[in-house]
Amino acid sequence: MRIAFAASECVPFAKTGGLADVVGALPRELVRLGHQVAVYLPLYTRVRKHLTGEPVYAIQSLTIPFRYYNRFAAIVDGGQHDGVQFYFVECPELFDRPELYGPRGGDYPDNAERFAVFCRAVLEASKQLGVPDVFHVHDWQAALIPIYLKTTYALDPALGGAATVLTIHNAGYQGAFPPATTEELLFPWDLFTMDKVEQFDRFNFLKGGIVFSDKLTTVSRKYAQEIQTAEFGEQLDGVLHNRAADLHGILNGVDYAHWNPASDGYLAAHYRSEELEGKQACRRDLLHAFGLEGVADATPVIGIVSRFATQKGFDLVAQIAAELMQRDVVVTALGTGEPIYESFFRDWAQRNPGKVAVQIRYDEALAHKIEAGADIFLMPSKYEPCGLNQIYSLKYGTVPVVRATGGLDDTIEEWNPGEGTGTGFKFEGYAADALLAALDRALTVFKDRFDWRRLMRNGMARDYSWAGPASEYAAVYRAATRGRRAS
Ligand code: ADP
Ligand code: GLC
Repeated sequence: MRIAFAASECVPFAKTGGLADVVGALPRELVRLGHQVAVYLPLYTRVRKHLTGEPVYAIQSLTIPFRYYNRFAAIVDGGQHDGVQFYFVECPELFDRPELYGPRGGDYPDNAERFAVFCRAVLEASKQLGVPDVFHVHDWQAALIPIYLKTTYALDPALGGAATVLTIHNAGYQGAFPPATTEELLFPWDLFTMDKVEQFDRFNFLKGGIVFSDKLTTVSRKYAQEIQTAEFGEQLDGVLHNRAADLHGILNGVDYAHWNPASDGYLAAHYRSEELEGKQACRRDLLHAFGLEGVADATPVIGIVSRFATQKGFDLVAQIAAELMQRDVVVTALGTGEPIYESFFRDWAQRNPGKVAVQIRYDEALAHKIEAGADIFLMPSKYEPCGLNQIYSLKYGTVPVVRATGGLDDTIEEWNPGEGTGTGFKFEGYAADALLAALDRALTVFKDRFDWRRLMRNGMARDYSWAGPASEYAAVYRAATRGRRAS
């Protein structure tokens, strides 16, 4: 099958979170299964850095009409990488900016227009470069593609046969804009109704994508259930429930070529399940990177790598912050995002020198060092569609302490001391005492060297490679194209 991915992030070109890891890895695995895959990505400033020499244009100019003017986009040929063809949508006035979405976890005011240009350019480009059997679109930034296909392009003979699959990586980000967006993007006003794109008097990109895509997926089985409930649906539970028959939960895989302690190029030493010695060197290296010299071997190191967003549960950490300092632990945290969490971590570190250290930035190398050098990985998310860091942690023998939600619940099994089974520690309710209790269970087991090693090795033995999930996606693509042919 021919599949075109459209997404706002993809490693190694542009990343703020796990979406980039998924879009970087899944196409390669689909190619291995014999499919043809093209990935479309906006040509942000940081993507430009990956181009060697002058850009090679696959298409010189595409016209994207708006109400009072036209925008012009070009398609840069990003070449083939591991058999995957990359195309970058160039529109310098919209994408040549320092951030992907906006400053400090916020939004640029013209994001509706930016991602409308992206989506329409993907459709226009594919008419010249090859219409796929399936457009696989990711999150709200690409969700206009299925909307355009069923409205503006409904009668286009070239695009008519293409099916659409929308993957929801995070229902908390919907792309909701003022009603006037409807006419600015040249959509008819009858699109702006509750059963289509309208949601509380906003033009909601994600909702429209949910309504108009042939098939829907999200990134774990548990989250596929959760988003159909009022607690997790972010007000889209009704529309998601209506489409339950077309909604599939497919757990993300891991790219073990990038996330493997036996070969990870960012680490001070390598290790594997049968030969754990290197992990001690990684721990020393991590403590050094955070200026935490002289921590005793018996003191567990808690690691955090995260976007600092409300989703991630750091308000619970703030509630237990003082109490946790009574325990024999050190904390190393890496993240950026909402100012409130950045200042919480900064203050916590300032108050507890030698025990808590934080780096407020995005740093790929340090993220790997934390995965390898920490003993415990903390992820107390309020909700978590899949979560990749806890799965990376398993491979690195860094025991996850997580809230039992979404993909965290699907991937982490509570340690059972009697049986010696399980891979981490989980808590159910979104409550500070439950988080502290889970951490205390971890700290108790950490004191028993034998049990802790067993727990580490249980996690390291788990296999979350992409082969299985990629076949599940291929089955969804087949179902989506069958649906199109029948309609
Ligand atoms: P989300 O997509 O919600 O942010 P995931 O756990 O799926 O959560 O993925 C997060 C990804 O982003 C991981 O690869 C993680 O290592 C990376 N990451 C998050 N914050 C940072 C940071 N400050 N520096 C480096 N990598 C980060
Ligand atoms: C989102 C989710 C995260 C998931 C990632 C990749 O950003 O927050 O849980 O792992 O997408 O699917």
